[in-house]
Amino acid sequence: MKEVKIAPSILAADHADLKGEISRVEEAGADMIHVDVADGHFAPNISLGPDTVRAIRKVTKLPLDIHLMITNPEKFYEPFLSAGGDIITVHAESTSRSFLNKLSKEVHQKGKKVGLALKPSTSLPYWLGKKTNPFDVILVLSVNPGFPGQAFMPRVIPKVRKVARLADSGELDVEVDGGVDQENASVIVEAGASVLVAGASIFRKGDVKSALQDMRAVIQRTMREVPA
Ligand code: DX5
Ligand code: ZN
Repeated sequence: MKEVKIAPSILAADHADLKGEISRVEEAGADMIHVDVADGHFAPNISLGPDTVRAIRKVTKLPLDIHLMITNPEKFYEPFLSAGGDIITVHAESTSRSFLNKLSKEVHQKGKKVGLALKPSTSLPYWLGKKTNPFDVILVLSVNPGFPGQAFMPRVIPKVRKVARLADSGELDVEVDGGVDQENASVIVEAGASVLVAGASIFRKGDVKSALQDMRAVIQRTMREVPA
């Protein structure tokens, strides 16, 4: 089994102290920082833009995982890339297959990674085969896009298993995002997730460090129990 990474979502952090919040999760052993971009159209919330990403880039060495919950990602992915995003993830529901191929080429040319996100009600695209897959990450959203602190939807677990089968022997990451906490992390890892995004369960628990370390402990326990 692949190593499982933890990506704290700063959507749930104290936005008046993003620098402090990011340095606390970095010290506690986070693997990347998940940055949710909501535009008020694709998702019913407005979060942040490339300027914030540029500012965050200066205060952490961790990879920035940019989740574009926006319409027209073709218009906006570039500013997030040049602001310092390391992984650019766009939604299958808001774009076309031809743009996804173009995006993947462009992002890979810059030595960065590209992801495809699927809302809870979206099935795995039929064209996403093992060999033809142009993505580094498939993000399975386990809440409706927009806000932190929502409840995890267990009905996405079969989809996580399907994506994990695609990822089987390759480098593809299986990212699960929304409502992930120290209780359900084990079921999600068992299903084959390799990246856990966690907002409220890390930033809104009081002690960021122990929240992250508790999640790490759950992951490690689960990995020991799951057959390789
Ligand atoms: C959903 C976002 C998630 C979410 C994570 O709109 O993509 O990243 O805010 O936060 P929690 O873990 O609190 O659901
Ligand atoms: Zn997200």
